[in-house]
Amino acid sequence: MTTHQTVIVLDFGGQYNQLIARRVRECGVYCEVQPYTLPIARLKEMEPVGIIFTGGPNSVYLNGAPRIDPEVFSLGVPVLGICYGAQLMALTLGGKVESSETREYGKTKTHYDNSDRLFAGLPETGISWMSHTDRIVEMPEGFVSTAHTDACPVAAMANETRRLYGLQFHPEVMHTENGLEMLRRFVTVCGCTGDWSMDDYARTAVNEIRQKVGNGKVLLALSGGVDSSVLAALLSKAVGKQLTCIFVDHGLMRKNEGDEVEAAFAGKDVNFIRVNAADQFLSALSGVTEPEKKRRIIGEAFIRVFEAEAKKIGKVDFLAQGTIYPDVIESGAGDAAVIKSHHNVGALPDHVDFKEIIEPLRMLFKDEVRQLGQKLGVPDYLVWRQPFPGPGLAIRVIGEITKEKLDILRDADAIYREEIAKAGLDRSIHQYFAVLTDTRSVGVMGDGRTYDYTLALRGVTTTDFMTADFARIPYDVLATVSARIVNEVSHINRVVYDITTKPPSTIEWE
Ligand code: XMP
Repeated sequence: MTTHQTVIVLDFGGQYNQLIARRVRECGVYCEVQPYTLPIARLKEMEPVGIIFTGGPNSVYLNGAPRIDPEVFSLGVPVLGICYGAQLMALTLGGKVESSETREYGKTKTHYDNSDRLFAGLPETGISWMSHTDRIVEMPEGFVSTAHTDACPVAAMANETRRLYGLQFHPEVMHTENGLEMLRRFVTVCGCTGDWSMDDYARTAVNEIRQKVGNGKVLLALSGGVDSSVLAALLSKAVGKQLTCIFVDHGLMRKNEGDEVEAAFAGKDVNFIRVNAADQFLSALSGVTEPEKKRRIIGEAFIRVFEAEAKKIGKVDFLAQGTIYPDVIESGAGDAAVIKSHHNVGALPDHVDFKEIIEPLRMLFKDEVRQLGQKLGVPDYLVWRQPFPGPGLAIRVIGEITKEKLDILRDADAIYREEIAKAGLDRSIHQYFAVLTDTRSVGVMGDGRTYDYTLALRGVTTTDFMTADFARIPYDVLATVSARIVNEVSHINRVVYDITTKPPSTIEWE
């Protein structure tokens, strides 16, 4: 994507690094996150029009704290330092940073100097989001303070001549009023024209794929999730029937889901193969109750089935993967802890003969993948699908998995989803699903005593799935869901709603 103007975010290990890049892209400017250790020569080759330093967990004075080559300030490119990034800028250019006794944390009333280009035309006071202990006590030569709070005389600093800016607060988080506008002003200072759009991306990506693939054959494991579905559509547009999608239906999908995936791709301009492998998965899972063991068995069975099918096709040139940008950043661009490892359907197949892996979505955030899907005409039910774990309902049937339990769960889950959609909550609750517990309890139905399963409903709101809150679903909606489930689904006589946050719980029950 080098044809676009690019802003480079140098990652110092802050928790909001992705968010900064996300916000810059919201301004119509292409943005990449790179580790702060990126050699300056590499940085120059990328010809950024602007550079942003993220925050970070360290104190600039700590031994081994991340540093930056001072040459970065002499490239003639505007630089914006955020939090740690601002302190590092101050220190590197000859200013002074000190640890203060109190931490300034949370929403903070802030006064801005509107004559500064970052704040021009914005209100003189507003709330900003602070999270720091150290602070800038002496600015480097040529800088002036452009914002302050009660506790912090240099909440922002600027050297307009050199186009260097530091913000002690975090403009990228939504708690900072007008934060996005400040970033927009920064990219304007960088001379950005806003040349990044999804139409543009789709065109470039299609051309790049065509060039790379030539007449070669491409193979894709299609799960029916958002990423692999959009990837299938993109590849199909680029290389049509040179693409083969293998959809392994493990029988652990939600109600009608397998058929929906088939409806979206079968008969279209790709080779689509559905493998109905439910029996094989169920027998491999028989008697297994331990969650991690379930995951392992499913991962292994998936690879075996995929390989067997791929063998029939013979040699392919490319194996396509639906890696997206957060996966790329999470796997350790900066010093931030690597968080998830178990979440993507497993390892690469050993016995598929291919030359190279292609990952055409690796520069896109999730919502950009969705936008791209919409541009490519992928049906809404796939584009807006909630995240769904690779092991599927196997980790939502607690304890041993049987076909009967899966069917009970599928029916109950479908009712839950239907009612959430009816209530118009399907896009505001980020993930919601039913769990079939292995607890049975006593109930009464008509004149009879029942002894049946307890079903749990889960609904969460989250930005990154690493932390989550339980969704405040209105009681009336819960009441309808519960009444419908106990009436319409046999073997459930009790419905409960999970009201725990993550942490300490996780989103899934297993
Ligand atoms: P947890 O339960 O860890 O889930 O809070 C966070 C997000 O990851 C999904 N998840 C998985 N996805 N394979 C996957 O592909 C898995 O084994 C797996 N376990 C959890 C979960 O649905 C949520 O979106």
